[in-house]
Amino acid sequence: MASSDLCKLWTTPLPLRGGGSLPSRILPGPMDGVTEGSFLSAMTSRGYVRCWHAPFIRISTGVPRLARISDHLEPYLNQRLPVIAQMMGTNTDFLAGTAKRMLAAGAVCADLNCACPSPTVIGNHSGGARLRDPEWIARTLDAIRNAVGERPFSVKLRIGFDSSDEFPQIAAAVRPAKPDIVFVHFRTVREMYNPVKDGWKRFLVARECLPDSILIACGDIQSPEDAFRLAEICPVDGIAIARGLLAQPSLLRDIEATILGQPPVPTEDKLRFLLDIATQSGRLPKANNGFILRLARSMFGEESIVFKQLAACKNIKTSTEWLQKACSR
Ligand SMILES: Cc1cc2nc3c(=O)[nH]c(=O)nc-3n(C[C@H](O)[C@H](O)[C@H](O)COP(=O)(O)O)c2cc1C
Repeated sequence: MASSDLCKLWTTPLPLRGGGSLPSRILPGPMDGVTEGSFLSAMTSRGYVRCWHAPFIRISTGVPRLARISDHLEPYLNQRLPVIAQMMGTNTDFLAGTAKRMLAAGAVCADLNCACPSPTVIGNHSGGARLRDPEWIARTLDAIRNAVGERPFSVKLRIGFDSSDEFPQIAAAVRPAKPDIVFVHFRTVREMYNPVKDGWKRFLVARECLPDSILIACGDIQSPEDAFRLAEICPVDGIAIARGLLAQPSLLRDIEATILGQPPVPTEDKLRFLLDIATQSGRLPKANNGFILRLARSMFGEESIVFKQLAACKNIKTSTEWLQKACSR
């Protein structure tokens, strides 16, 4: 398939087991501590996302009660878009039971995180540490499949723990359970977020090892041009973008628009986006400037006037006032 046709396919719904679907194959990546609160509503209200992938819930002492899972998912489900729920842990039975409850709580797909590289998570043998034990992955995905029946589930992987050479064994563990989606971040756990030369070429190995799976590529997609370049390198079934959304919140929509020959979102909207977040955050009791500054740095750069002005603001109230003025100019 030509890469332009492949990209067009990415804009079409992704069917899931049991009759559900995701509206597009250009997906937001989960970001613990970022994809929450005002960020969710600012993104959803603008139509910048067509579904959400919730960050992980840690499963350690048992299957959480439905009420706890519902509380965790509530901010995402409130967006009235399909939600992929994610869990992380080491106990196969707890994870299988949790997957079933996540679907009962309203998620369209239950996702197992075998990708997180955080030292704390790895220290708990969870997240990316699970890649060291492909037999566990096979057993756990099988248990999840049995628990959810004809409902959808997925797994998020990195390409290996120490080395990308591990992927064939990891993929062999994933294949029998036939998850609806396999998300693959091209870096190994050891590589954390370091630069990797020709990293996207590693998707070719993933594609070869998972020929019949829906393979969603993750990592370093920052622009519509990146999406096209990736499609030329490897015929993956879709893409997921996380950090790129901090620099360009409209990125998923801009990629779809570029593929479909439509105009991108005007860049002026970036300031209004920040204003929306500041306004909403300001209503919370413990609101502070931290998240606004983080976004302003990603969107405009540390040397930008926007960042410097916001950094000089004492609190969220003065940030909001400055943004209101900037937006009305
Ligand atoms: C702040 C932050 C939090 C993240 N939280 C999660 C998470 O909860 N679950 C997950 O699967 N991935 C998580 N990720 C990984 C991203 O979803 C994504 O796979 C990774 O950042 C690579 O994609 P990117 O280059 O587009 O950011 C997180 C990444 C960041 C930067």
